[in-house]
Amino acid sequence: MVRINPSILAADFVNLERDLGTIAAADLVHVDVMDNHFVPNLTFGPQMVERIQAVSTLPLDVHLMIDDPERWAPGYAELGAFSVTFHAEAVRDATALARRLREIGARAGIALKPGTPVEPYLELLPEFDQVLVMTVEPGFGGQEFMAETMPKLELLRGAVGDRDIWLQVDGGIDEDTIGIAAEAGADTFVAGSAVFRFDDRSARIELLRSAAEKHSH
Ligand code: DX5
Ligand code: ZN
Repeated sequence: MVRINPSILAADFVNLERDLGTIAAADLVHVDVMDNHFVPNLTFGPQMVERIQAVSTLPLDVHLMIDDPERWAPGYAELGAFSVTFHAEAVRDATALARRLREIGARAGIALKPGTPVEPYLELLPEFDQVLVMTVEPGFGGQEFMAETMPKLELLRGAVGDRDIWLQVDGGIDEDTIGIAAEAGADTFVAGSAVFRFDDRSARIELLRSAAEKHSH
């Protein structure tokens, strides 16, 4: 199943509720939390995400690009986020944090920067509901898709087998690159610019969805 998760990093931050209303055709809304430490950019924290959760009709897919996820990630699960994804490079004990998130009731996700190998995490797969393979260096929207990350997805796809673990890509996903990621095994696609830079968001979401479906397994 193909899932399209628009990233509100590319939305209008003073008209977020309005912009959320334009992406009802999507599956989840991707919420990028950045702390200006783990990545050189700053967005918002739990107070803002709580309001997004309150007004969004779509479930929240929270992507934490922050240091010390042990301290902050459980709060996002508690406020009702559907999934909470922390970075492998920032966490001390990935398994312990994943278990904590699941205990609260969220799906647990682990994200890998482009240079982070996937092999050490394959044995942890049962602890997770989703794996996010970053297809750009995290921090900013509008960057170019890095095709060199695709072997990680292929490895993950093979390792996941018939388990229901979502494989997500994030960064530079558009109607051309989405097929490459689907081909490699991704089933959950984050897109910021490719949705919000256009007026007709429903049409953009459906265009991405059909491009992914054409190439998915
Ligand atoms: C980047 C963020 C992405 C970003 C993607 O660090 O994690 O979610 O919004 O933006 P696009 O789709 O424009 O590359
Ligand atoms: Zn993201």
